Amino acid sequence: MIRSLRSGSRKAELWDLPENTMEDDRLGPLLSQEQIASIVEDLADQISRDYGQRDLVLVCILKGAFMFLSDLIRHLRVPVQIDFVRLASYGSSMQTPGRVEITKDIEISIEGKDVLIVEDIIDSGRTIQFLKDRLALARPHSIKVCTLLDKKARREVTMEADYVGKEVDNLFVVGYGIDFNERYRNLPEICYVIPKDQPK
Ligand code: IMP
Ligand code: MG
Repeated sequence: MIRSLRSGSRKAELWDLPENTMEDDRLGPLLSQEQIASIVEDLADQISRDYGQRDLVLVCILKGAFMFLSDLIRHLRVPVQIDFVRLASYGSSMQTPGRVEITKDIEISIEGKDVLIVEDIIDSGRTIQFLKDRLALARPHSIKVCTLLDKKARREVTMEADYVGKEVDNLFVVGYGIDFNERYRNLPEICYVIPKDQPK
């Protein structure tokens, strides 16, 4: 089994993946379950404070942000509706998408409403920029963005998230809903994938 990071023991450097793991990825710990929980609660507090009793529609980007959304909404004290979009992007699995398309649209009306996009991680910013432009066509009252992780240094378009859980370096991360070729979404912690050419 994966050697997990227990609270209080932050010194696990690498995790041993199960024998039947399809590839020999090596993962390093980035955020423990406790660290994620505290980041998510802080974000929920900020959002609850900012929106007060205004109706809020959370638009979650599938699939990566599903776990983040489900934890975030449990801490929100504002009336919310939730909806989902699925976006297809083109580019290889470890590279940032170039072209973005929508493959599953929202189903509830956002006209005149306050919308908060919930994303797992922002890299070039293209995905969020695409979605903001797309949602704006439905004439919501406002559109803001909440991301758990932000690789700010890699931005290719000018866009800032309104709520950022944690800024991360240029690492490829997995876990807590976030995948590498559809794997590792179930990890309760967030790890980074150690490049194969990095010596052990
Ligand atoms: P952007 O359009 O370049 O900002 O890319 C954002 C999307 O790329 C996210 O929704 C993720 O699906 C994916 N992505 C970016 N960085 C990572 C990562 O480190 N691990 C897994 N997916 C990532
Ligand atoms: Mg994503």
